[in-house]
Amino acid sequence: MKNDINCREDIILLVDTFYNKVQKNNKIGPIFTEVAKVNWAHHLPKMYDFWESILFGKAIYKGNPMLTHFALNNKTPLKETEFNTWKEIFFETVDELFTGQNAEIIKQKAQSIADLMHFKLNSPKQRINIV
Ligand code: HEM
Repeated sequence: MKNDINCREDIILLVDTFYNKVQKNNKIGPIFTEVAKVNWAHHLPKMYDFWESILFGKAIYKGNPMLTHFALNNKTPLKETEFNTWKEIFFETVDELFTGQNAEIIKQKAQSIADLMHFKLNSPKQRINIV
């Protein structure tokens, strides 16, 4: 039986499972493994903090995801297909592992952050302001 996302251990399971799938995905996997050459030992704990901050309101994540993705977008364009794939994998992972109110909330948060990120990356005015 599936439970809701209730604690950091649940976030860790979600994040680890998500990035496992991401790495194997042929549309966005290479962005992580070949373009950004992600250091997973560094990236994963950052993502546990990020989602714990978002879902449980704990201000433990320190960082600026927009700057990271602007830099990445300059190396390889992050467009609708990349964001759709990211969201599909995220939603699929949440639904596979969890059920409940927090599972619904984290999908809504992911959706709105992804949509805002996509919009900002593809808005020339925003790009000039931030970079
Ligand atoms: C097409 C979609 C996306 C791609 C290809 C992508 C890729 C990446 C990559 C390669 C990194 C850098 C990892 C590193 O070098 O350490 C990163 C960092 C990060 N991503 Fe994404 N990402 C995407 C969407 C998202 C979305 C929708 C969110 C949030 C809901 C997100 C949240 C983050 C965060 C919080 C970091 C860490 C930033 C930092 O503090 O340095 N990403 N992403």
